[in-house]
Amino acid sequence: MKLLSFLRRLAVYAAGLSAVVLLTACERPFQDSVQHGYRGTGMVQVYNPRLLAVKTEANQVPVALPAAPGDGPKAAQAYKNVQVLGDLSVAQFNRLMVSMTAWVSPNDGGCVYCHNPANFAEDEKYTKVVARRMLQMTQYINSEWKPHVAETGVTCYTCHRGQPVPNAVWFTANHQPYGSNFMGDKAGQNEPARVVNLSSLPNDPFTPFLLGDLNIRVNGPTALPTGNRQSTKQAEWTYGLMSHMSESLGVNCTYCHNSRSFQSWENSPPQRATAWHGIRMARDLNKGYMEPLTATFPQHRKGELGDVAKVNCATCHQGAYKPLNGASMLKDFPELAAPSGKAAQVAAN
Ligand code: HEC
Ligand code: HEC
Ligand code: HEC
Ligand code: HEC
Repeated sequence: MKLLSFLRRLAVYAAGLSAVVLLTACERPFQDSVQHGYRGTGMVQVYNPRLLAVKTEANQVPVALPAAPGDGPKAAQAYKNVQVLGDLSVAQFNRLMVSMTAWVSPNDGGCVYCHNPANFAEDEKYTKVVARRMLQMTQYINSEWKPHVAETGVTCYTCHRGQPVPNAVWFTANHQPYGSNFMGDKAGQNEPARVVNLSSLPNDPFTPFLLGDLNIRVNGPTALPTGNRQSTKQAEWTYGLMSHMSESLGVNCTYCHNSRSFQSWENSPPQRATAWHGIRMARDLNKGYMEPLTATFPQHRKGELGDVAKVNCATCHQGAYKPLNGASMLKDFPELAAPSGKAAQVAAN
């Protein structure tokens, strides 16, 4: 009898204790909330200081090498096969090579990740051919996509973070049908995927929106139906993309929307317009730079359908509202700000 009641009491304690553990495990410690819209709109960002500290640590910027003198012979004269960086002095050229090594392949052979050490001029490694195109892509982003990247800009490190393959890339999903073929395309639903925050939304919103230019807007302009032909399924694709955007930036929907009306631009913070450009930029980079490199990449770097790795919001942002929490590495590498001929032109004007 005594034993039984003891056991019963123990069970109650255990249940109570596990509830306490569960509750505290939910989100610890206390959350910080920051107002992000007009008073009364409920536009608030909620931050977990513990996770914020981890994020701050992960977004430290590597120290830049001291600037190199611009005088002396140009790289185009000193070397045999320089197609993009010919205007740099030899000292500037070598500073950039050393920096690129630290940004992309510090633990993967260093210079040899891109070069045949017996002949640096040779283009036999695919990594060197890709890297040359990446140099052009970086200059293009920094000069042509200022409406998104502003003066902060990007370097190789923004995406690569010391690794040949960035932490976040995407491939077109090989979608399976529900059961048999005539049941229709599952679009990855009911297969929890991180890109859509483990929700049951289509898990490849990138192929239609960040490679193709399918319509993202799904809301009807009026409360009652007046001819909006967008389907629930189309809305789910949009929500898939929006979940990815929130996840990538570490923010919630109200960072860009007043949830009273998701479509209204008048009620949206300015960040939404920046994001609008970001969508177009990612599309442009995937079509103009990544896809044309498909034949250059070896098979083991490609996706299930043989497509090349592509860029989405997370490739640069990696959980931060601005990549590297807004720190600019570009200011120390002006050669990456624009194609060289153009940079010289801008400086002369
Ligand atoms: C991530 C790839 C990559 C890494 C790592 C790299 N390079 Fe390069 N390197 C290139 C590319 C691309 C070019 C051609 C640039 C151009 O066409 O403007 C180049 C060109 C060169 C050239 C000119 C060769 C010639 O005669 O045409 C030299 C020299 C060179 N690199 C040295 C180095 C050294 C030294 C290191 C290591 C500290 C290094 N590189 C690391 C990609 C890389
Ligand atoms: C906007 C993001 C972004 C920027 C900026 C960027 N890269 Fe890349 N890079 C990628 C993606 C995406 C891939 C494809 C990943 C893969 O190789 O599968 C890639 C691949 C590469 C590869 C091939 C690696 C491999 O092992 O397959 C090299 C080398 C490379 N980049 C060098 C550079 C250099 C050098 C710079 C700066 C001049 C640079 N990247 C800037 C996104 C970027
Ligand atoms: C970083 C900014 C940003 C975040 C975060 C964001 N959105 Fe969006 N949203 C946009 C932009 C930009 C558009 C317009 C896209 C276009 O027209 O190309 C848009 C469009 C939409 C639309 C379509 C509106 C219409 O006109 O039909 C809906 C619905 C939507 N978002 C819902 C959400 C939800 C839900 C979340 C949170 C899970 C969210 N958004 C998070 C920027 C954002
Ligand atoms: C090539 C790298 C890159 C990619 C890809 C990228 N961004 Fe950005 N983004 C940046 C940089 C750099 C900034 C900082 C610009 C500045 O300092 O004002 C930024 C800023 C932003 C901001 C402004 C934040 C603020 O608080 O002012 C938003 C919103 C944003 N990005 C959304 C997106 C979305 C959504 C996508 C994907 C559709 C995306 N970005 C893809 C590089 C990128």
